[in-house]
Amino acid sequence: MSSVTQLIRYGVAFTDTWRQATDSSDLHLTPQRKPSWLETPWGGHYHGGNLFLDRPFPVRLTGTKYACGRGGCGACTVMVSKHDPVSRKIRHFSVTACLVPICSLYGAAVTTVEGVGSIKTRLHPVQERIAKSHGTQCGFCTPGMVMSMYTLLRNHPQPSEEQLMEALGGNLCRCTGYRPILESGRTFCNCDAVSSRTGLTHPSSSAFTKICTELFAKDEFQPLDPTQELIFPPELLRMAENPEKRTLTFHGERVTWISPGTLKDLLELKVKHPDAPLILGNTSLGPAKKSQGHFHPVLLSPARISELSMVSTTSEGLTIGAGCSLAQVKDILAGRVSELPEEKTQTYRALLKHLKRLAGQQIRNMASLGGHIMSRHCYSDLNPVLAVGNTALNLMSKEGTRQIPLDRDFLAGLASADLKPEEILESVYIPHSQRWEFVSAFRQAQCQQNALADVTAGMRVLFQEGTDTIEDLSLAYGGVGDATISAQKSCQQLLGRHWNEPMLDEACRLLLDEVSLPGGAPGGSVEFKRTLVVSFFFKFYLEVLQELKKPGKLLSDGRHFPEISDRFLSALEDFPATVPQGVQRYQSVDSHQALQDPVGRPIMHLSGLKHATGEAIFCDDIPTVDKELFMALVTSTRAHAKIISVDLSKALELPGVVDVITAEDIPGTNGAEDDRLLAVDKVLCVGQIVCAVVAETEAQAKRAVEETKIAYEDLEPVIFTIEDAIKHSSFLCPEKKLEQGNVEKAFEEVDQIVEEVHVGGQEHFYMETQRVLVIPKTEDKELDIYVSTQDPAHVQKTVSSTLDIPINRITCHVKRVGGGFGGKVGRPAVLGAIAAVGNWLPHSSCLLDREDDMLITGGRHPLFGKYKVGFMNSGRIRALDIECFINGGCTLDDSELVTEFLILKMENAYKIHNLRFRGRACMTNLPSNTAFRGFGFPQGTLVTESCITAVAAKCGPSARKDAGTNVWTSLKSSFHSRRMQVAEFNKKNYWRKRGLAVVPMKFSVGFAATSFHQAAALVHIYTDGSVLVTHGGNELGQGIHTKMLQVASRELKVPTSHMHICETSTATVPNTIATAASIGSDVNGRAVQNACQILLKRLEPIIKKNPEGTWEDWIEAAFEQRISLSATGYFRGYEAFMDWEKGEGDPFPYYVYGAASSEVEVDCLTGAHKVKKIRTDIVMDACCSLNPAIDIGQIEGSFTQGMGLYTTEEELKYSPEGVLYSRGPDDYKIPTITDVPEEFNGLGESGMFLGSSVFFAIADAVATARRERDIAEDFTVRSPATPERVRMACADRFTEMVRDSRLPPWAPPF
Ligand SMILES: Cc1cc2nc3c(=O)[nH]c(=O)nc-3n(C[C@H](O)[C@H](O)[C@H](O)COP(=O)(O)OP(=O)(O)OC[C@H]3O[C@@H](n4cnc5c(N)ncnc54)[C@H](O)[C@@H]3O)c2cc1C
Ligand code: FES
Ligand code: FES
Repeated sequence: MSSVTQLIRYGVAFTDTWRQATDSSDLHLTPQRKPSWLETPWGGHYHGGNLFLDRPFPVRLTGTKYACGRGGCGACTVMVSKHDPVSRKIRHFSVTACLVPICSLYGAAVTTVEGVGSIKTRLHPVQERIAKSHGTQCGFCTPGMVMSMYTLLRNHPQPSEEQLMEALGGNLCRCTGYRPILESGRTFCNCDAVSSRTGLTHPSSSAFTKICTELFAKDEFQPLDPTQELIFPPELLRMAENPEKRTLTFHGERVTWISPGTLKDLLELKVKHPDAPLILGNTSLGPAKKSQGHFHPVLLSPARISELSMVSTTSEGLTIGAGCSLAQVKDILAGRVSELPEEKTQTYRALLKHLKRLAGQQIRNMASLGGHIMSRHCYSDLNPVLAVGNTALNLMSKEGTRQIPLDRDFLAGLASADLKPEEILESVYIPHSQRWEFVSAFRQAQCQQNALADVTAGMRVLFQEGTDTIEDLSLAYGGVGDATISAQKSCQQLLGRHWNEPMLDEACRLLLDEVSLPGGAPGGSVEFKRTLVVSFFFKFYLEVLQELKKPGKLLSDGRHFPEISDRFLSALEDFPATVPQGVQRYQSVDSHQALQDPVGRPIMHLSGLKHATGEAIFCDDIPTVDKELFMALVTSTRAHAKIISVDLSKALELPGVVDVITAEDIPGTNGAEDDRLLAVDKVLCVGQIVCAVVAETEAQAKRAVEETKIAYEDLEPVIFTIEDAIKHSSFLCPEKKLEQGNVEKAFEEVDQIVEEVHVGGQEHFYMETQRVLVIPKTEDKELDIYVSTQDPAHVQKTVSSTLDIPINRITCHVKRVGGGFGGKVGRPAVLGAIAAVGNWLPHSSCLLDREDDMLITGGRHPLFGKYKVGFMNSGRIRALDIECFINGGCTLDDSELVTEFLILKMENAYKIHNLRFRGRACMTNLPSNTAFRGFGFPQGTLVTESCITAVAAKCGPSARKDAGTNVWTSLKSSFHSRRMQVAEFNKKNYWRKRGLAVVPMKFSVGFAATSFHQAAALVHIYTDGSVLVTHGGNELGQGIHTKMLQVASRELKVPTSHMHICETSTATVPNTIATAASIGSDVNGRAVQNACQILLKRLEPIIKKNPEGTWEDWIEAAFEQRISLSATGYFRGYEAFMDWEKGEGDPFPYYVYGAASSEVEVDCLTGAHKVKKIRTDIVMDACCSLNPAIDIGQIEGSFTQGMGLYTTEEELKYSPEGVLYSRGPDDYKIPTITDVPEEFNGLGESGMFLGSSVFFAIADAVATARRERDIAEDFTVRSPATPERVRMACADRFTEMVRDSRLPPWAPPF
């Protein structure tokens, strides 16, 4: 027993996804709110080989975060340390805790972020550096990043850049753009990582200002001392040296976990429980349980069976134990590749190529080879390569052993070729390749790493000795059917053929016949996938040809191999993953500025260190209390339907269920007439909230949701697309229109282009999903609400009207928000109001899973625009007429405002004398779209920029002269020389094309209404001199609290160390405005300034009297003299208005100007773009930045988010019935660490729109490819420019072959 408790020496990160994975609540785990990570069950008693888990372990560690529950984001990363029985060494590896079954941790030490360091004791260098390098913004991803980096350093104290990229590839961050995180990691690397960036004098610097490139002082970092790391618990070591051979059984209500100690026991158990799966990494079983509801009452864990981890080699091949993790497989293969001659390691190299890109490091550490093979996922990267490599599976049962091939029939799951129920996969035999044999692997995914492949392939060819005649050929594909497909027929027909162009053509034709995808294949992308099938084969053809032509491989019959033109060789290159370089320049403060004045200096985020140690408290980290209740939402499964009946009887009968809230339980107002909190009579979209279950545990609430039966009657029409909405005249609000000059007349005199533009929507994908905690008080109907929101006053008002109680009884608290981006302006109020309805004591909480969050909340509005532009030959634009439609979803939400902003901002940095902009918000049967960073600007300006690009393409780049800003000029200088280099590259490379683009930006700051610019602050000075600042802004990661303290410090002339901001609360600053529209720091800063100035004025007489006194002396004196040490500051706001009737107004207080240029490289054969060879330069006029480090972080973060919008974040996918399929990081790809521009140079605040420079650079590259291929027809790349769209636009003979057999699309685009 005592040995078991050792497991939690540093804290076992146990997540309740474990509960979902293996239903641990049935294993008597303490019910708890997500993610209350640490009340571990290890306090059970040991009894006759069984460990009953019945006592909570009273440790609360909330540092590890929960953001997706599917292993896809890395927020929950922890380090597991185990004694390896084979190497007899301690193995440290990172894992995603959300998929780690707690029972699998037997014998392991788990280190969470709390075990690494603390602000209270000692910070670890990893934590210090990520914070001081400004690698944290909202901080929700930071503990995961820290743990990935920490684990890397435990294994490699001086890692290479490649190792750093690999280690962080499984961690997502939505805020920073990754550059500063990588930069902190590079400070440990064995390279000249971070240049010493002392303040460089810039030619334009004045005597007092200079341009700086140093955002942090590297010399201040404490060194990494590996000798100081935590040791592996000696007790666990003793346990490992003398392993327990008995079978351990963990019993639960519904699940039994059995962990045999010997192979013999395992085989016997498999006979007894033939249906029980073997659980290893749980990366397949776990997600299937969560998303498909798979349930297994018995689980067999072979983790303690060392035979399954054995590796052996012979002169013919390599045998790897099925229990080895994919990370171990990678090391084993790398070892063999370094030892054996190249010709023997073809299959190993091909596997290694995929193993570098498959998932993230954590998943590769967890997933086993056996689990991977046996899961037979259609997208499996390894199975196609193993299949072509003649791999054999060594099976074992009580009856003995046998071998089966990993072939087409096995992969198709044919019973005759499969394991028997009582058999297990013991090991995998992969033979060496031979002379004249070539093996290769290909994959194309939305992102370079941590993304399932659209298509993946393994290919092998064997030639007759000394010839180019095909003796054997194997081609296997993943992603093109329900299972990995072997193109056996095609291969058979190609035997005996020479490796030449006619064979290539024939092979493509045969492959397209054999690897056929039905038009309605889930996921769609049929043409793209079929194109990849042949494009990959073409790559293989070239690769093999190049190998054959190598010296030493001469044809015996004296024939020559076909020549490959140098221009074609670029088809063979892969984009490598390297750490981005770049320089961030900003204007330093005036040299006369007082040293203690922090304004304008790159001060670290106030919570940076706490983010890095996991001590920063988010809404859900608030300690649980006894008898708290949990809420889960019942949502509509129909897109447009009448509710016939709601049957709650079964749900209410379930254990732990307290109540189900319906619209009838609401004492006050149930939202607006056309936007209900809880549906009444009818539903308008899939995902609309109908009712909410309240139960004692979250698991009970979720089970009850499944038992709530709602009968519907479908209604007509059901509208999903903008096109359908236009057809049905289904709009949410009247048209918004702006007009100037005389558009019609101007059009009469000029050439015209008429085009359509589509811009996809976007999911906020804030790392911290929506969450709220409601604590009713026992008196006077008072409520405390802790909520992750950008607008606590809105939550407060909504709860007040819902409960029909005055606003003054409700206090909303916001400590910090794990990312908002507009998605936490409106929705938190809905959740807060529903959670408050029952007034349950001691409190009730609601936390949305990533799946529900994505289903319910809506995102950025997709846009469809039509433009007509009139221009002169010179490129001067004389008239522009744009009409836009956005998909608003089923209720108004912010759609009218978004339409207005879209129209008002569409002109961007151009000056067009005759223009007409019109916009409408369409009503469809999808969840309501809402505010999102940029508020329509990123969509609208893409239309304008597309139009400018089209004119420039016709007339030359002079069309862009109208964008006359300073920042623009600074980028243009190098543009022309780079354009020439790009042209030169493109001339030399047929299958790779580079593109270059530069876009200007004029971004209006603020709201188009004066009343929205007011702000207030409350500043208290306490008798010890410490200062408490409160203001109306919310900390979303954008560093507003840090900036506010900088302002207060300057005004009061007191160091920030004397100051504190506790939270944003409606009790201290009432009637606040949402923190949005890029104006929070401005208006709240002025309010803080005002409060501080009032206080200083009061203190002036005291200071005058005792000028030599200290701050503390003055405060003491002020108190003695009865001078109030508390002041409210107020800022009335900027004038801004818009009269839509008249089409007149002055809607914005001021603008921010910027420009970005990007250079990308596109693989025309796969559509992969960037990810390397990209360079981005951003210039922003941020005026006087309060904090350049924070502002640069915002620029880079929003640029990366914009790049996601325009390139990788494929529109959310819905079924034809309107059911959202994109429910997590595996279906929806935000940019990853490998997507950061290789060279990222920034100067001065930015906007999402600048990310479109990547989009236009891609379009430029595609246009070049099309010109070269003589494709006359015009084209417009649709946003996002996903690999699919890019590939299909780079039309060539392969796309032509596919188009001949066109199929209808799978689902309509939204
Ligand atoms: C976030 C994420 C990203 C991913 N990305 C990729 C990717 O890019 N490419 C890719 O190819 N895959 C990817 N995967 C899938 C991953 O490779 C597989 O889930 C994994 O390899 C399964 O291994 P496991 O040990 O976790 O299996 P488990 O989930 O533990 O088990 C899976 C199945 O295998 C059976 N099994 C396991 N071992 C044996 C044995 N020895 N004998 C008999 N049966 C056995 C079990 O009974 C069970 O049915 C991803 C998974 C996740 C969660
Ligand atoms: S929460 Fe575990 S990986 Fe996302
Ligand atoms: S700082 Fe990475 S998600 Fe916010």
